[in-house]
Amino acid sequence: MNNLRLKIGELDLHRLGFGAMRLTGYRPAADRTEAIRVARRAVELGVDFIDTADAYGVGANEELLAEALHPYDHVLIATKVGHTRPSPREWVPCGRPEYLRQATELSLRRLRVERIDLLQLHRVDPAVPFADQLGALAGLVAEGKVRHIGLSEVSVQQVEAARQYVDVVSVQNRYNLTDRQHEAVVDYCTAEGIAFIPWVPIAHGEHAASQLLGMIATELGATAAQLSLSWLLHRSPVVLPIPGTSSLDHLAENVAATGLNLTTDHLNRLGALSPVS
Ligand SMILES: NC(=O)c1ccc[n+]([C@@H]2O[C@H](COP(=O)([O-])OP(=O)(O)OC[C@H]3O[C@@H](n4cnc5c(N)ncnc54)[C@H](OP(=O)(O)O)[C@@H]3O)[C@@H](O)[C@H]2O)c1
Repeated sequence: MNNLRLKIGELDLHRLGFGAMRLTGYRPAADRTEAIRVARRAVELGVDFIDTADAYGVGANEELLAEALHPYDHVLIATKVGHTRPSPREWVPCGRPEYLRQATELSLRRLRVERIDLLQLHRVDPAVPFADQLGALAGLVAEGKVRHIGLSEVSVQQVEAARQYVDVVSVQNRYNLTDRQHEAVVDYCTAEGIAFIPWVPIAHGEHAASQLLGMIATELGATAAQLSLSWLLHRSPVVLPIPGTSSLDHLAENVAATGLNLTTDHLNRLGALSPVS
């Protein structure tokens, strides 16, 4: 398909990114060599946007990306802070300004950079005034430690509120062909020229196993996973999916989804799969 580039701030990027979360679990990667191979292969295949977070592997994911890709030639590493992992099953927001600052310092150190190109607030902490969380992020931009700010799991109202304090260049919300609860946010980002980064773009792999998607995909000579990624790319020119995989074969398959062209008929049939809430 055409229009496969997207600007995040002044950075011109390919619209099919890579989500690195699955390269590590709660602990460092079991097979570090293979995880590094997957990260490097993503870049060889043309991916130039990689999503991570300080919480992934409690720092191990950022360290792995640094080992695989530093000094990140023409690759944007987007990280996130503000979601803590006290144990493998727990994700707890922490938006206290002093914590966000410290977490960012640690991400800078692990990624071995002087400045983070895109820092996303992983979750809004309901226990901390929103203005304080954004103030901490704005301070990091003013000090040159962060280039651009993004948000994750937010409503249109929250993005609008945040824009009073910082320039929001991206929103990362859960969104895919069968989970369209954030439809209004996609429309808002499209109208405002803000990158929309859907996480779980293939629904944790469930789309790859869907018979219905598989049927339409077969007509196109594609796989179901490719079809759901292509649907996202067609949904709006500001959408930049970040499929995650630890498999070299799935990685190649996902990147190749950019070559699919969907007709209005395909889009209508796919649209009927997903009730919009
Ligand atoms: N902002 C947030 O709160 C948030 C939350 C969760 C995730 N994220 C980000 O979003 C990224 C993507 O999310 P995700 O990894 O949870 O979900 P996903 O990309 O929708 O699904 C990944 C799963 O699908 C499988 N898969 C990938 N490509 C496939 C293919 N072509 N065919 C069949 N199966 C395939 C993977 O298994 P294999 O390893 O076997 O390929 C893996 O189990 C994460 O890496 C992370 O960066 C953000």
